[in-house]
Amino acid sequence: MDKYVVRGGKPLFGDITISGAKNAVVAIIPAAILAEGVCRIENVPLVSDVLTELEILRELGVRADVVAPGVVEIDASRLHTHRAVSELNQKFRASYYLLGAFLSKFGKAEVSMPGGCNFGGARPIDQHIKGFEALGAEVFVEDGIIKAYTPNGKQGAHVYFDGVTVGGTVNVMLAAVLTPGLTVLENAAREPHIVDLANFLNYMGAEIMGAGTDIIRIKGVSKLHGCTYSIIPDQIEAGTFLAAAAAAGGSVTVRNVTPKHLEATLKALQDAGALITEGDDYVTLSRAGRILPTNIKASPYPGFPTDMQPQLAAVLTLADGVSVITDDVWDTRFKYAEHLERMGAQISVQPRQAVITGVSSLQGAEMSACDLRAGAAMVIAALAARGESVITNIHYVERGYENIIQKLRQVGADIELVSE
Ligand code: EPZ
Repeated sequence: MDKYVVRGGKPLFGDITISGAKNAVVAIIPAAILAEGVCRIENVPLVSDVLTELEILRELGVRADVVAPGVVEIDASRLHTHRAVSELNQKFRASYYLLGAFLSKFGKAEVSMPGGCNFGGARPIDQHIKGFEALGAEVFVEDGIIKAYTPNGKQGAHVYFDGVTVGGTVNVMLAAVLTPGLTVLENAAREPHIVDLANFLNYMGAEIMGAGTDIIRIKGVSKLHGCTYSIIPDQIEAGTFLAAAAAAGGSVTVRNVTPKHLEATLKALQDAGALITEGDDYVTLSRAGRILPTNIKASPYPGFPTDMQPQLAAVLTLADGVSVITDDVWDTRFKYAEHLERMGAQISVQPRQAVITGVSSLQGAEMSACDLRAGAAMVIAALAARGESVITNIHYVERGYENIIQKLRQVGADIELVSE
């Protein structure tokens, strides 16, 4: 089992270049199979989730090659199946995006029930199914496989999401893009990766308007062609490294970012006492004084991102007072707390909420990553702690952070990957 060994207590100084957005590319790769032609996708983070997804496409007969560092080519001209039910699909959550893609391409789909990071609660897909049914699909689950058929064809429809859902917005957008007529998604997710997917599909010849707002209009087209597209920078990766600088102290600049996508994260870090300057494509965070307590409420974009709340929790364990983190997206995404408590953090967890009483210092400890962002929070706390920490189950972290060890060592972190 691989593990990270971190010797903390040193401030961080230097620059980190941010990779492409994982949550954009895991939606764009399945979208690429809708093209009659080759899609060349650039600025792709080759994290394990992306490599898994490329392997899933290859299992289906799609050419999905890494043709240069960070560059992937997808050619689905030999794709003749609407079934994605292999063991790989069961492991990987975003494979359910193939439901929407297959419905668009073939009018039918059979995909294994999704896996993915388990924060402790369920991860339902009722809103995805609601959208598919609105477009004319009959959807049911049989032997752990989600099956969707359109015996009477597909027709554009008005879909109102009962709750904001990134995955639901992606999946129904994919299902609608080759469905005749106008589809309107209301109460749609507004995340940057939704906009990136819509832009990619429009580069392929789709007609999608309003992405980034809560009403997205999709005029079905008869076919899509290949294109070349570059993935947006990963605002969660950028926020994670800025949070590391806020916790450990020092001054770190993240480059190749879109500051606008980081607005809520930067506001929270400033409230926690960090000094922030930004340019067109970079953000610099410095922290020399005390970390200040602040309250955070994770909510759909443009609110504070739930994918950043574990990382901010790690920072706030060292604040000069009490902070409250509320997560309105996932009500049990606080499993990292018990691991940070091993370092001396004081965190009281209730449903949807963690109350953090700041301490003057953390001590290195043994921890085990329990999901992607929880693992990132443990790395951040270990960098700020005195002494040595060991973090196991780091395959979670490798799902979403490309070259994290190299990037952190670049700014002076004493962190190494040890293979047992
Ligand atoms: C995406 O997950 C992200 N994953 C998650 O990031 C992120 O935490 C989440 O969006 C919220 O931003 C990817 O993009 C691959 P949702 P997703 O559908 O799509 C409920 C990371 O760390 N819901 O927006 O699964 C659901 O239970 C990962 O990179 C329904 O009730 O999230 C949750 O409470 C972790 N019914 C809320 O909506 C549905 O049909 C938001 O879920 C769908 C969702």
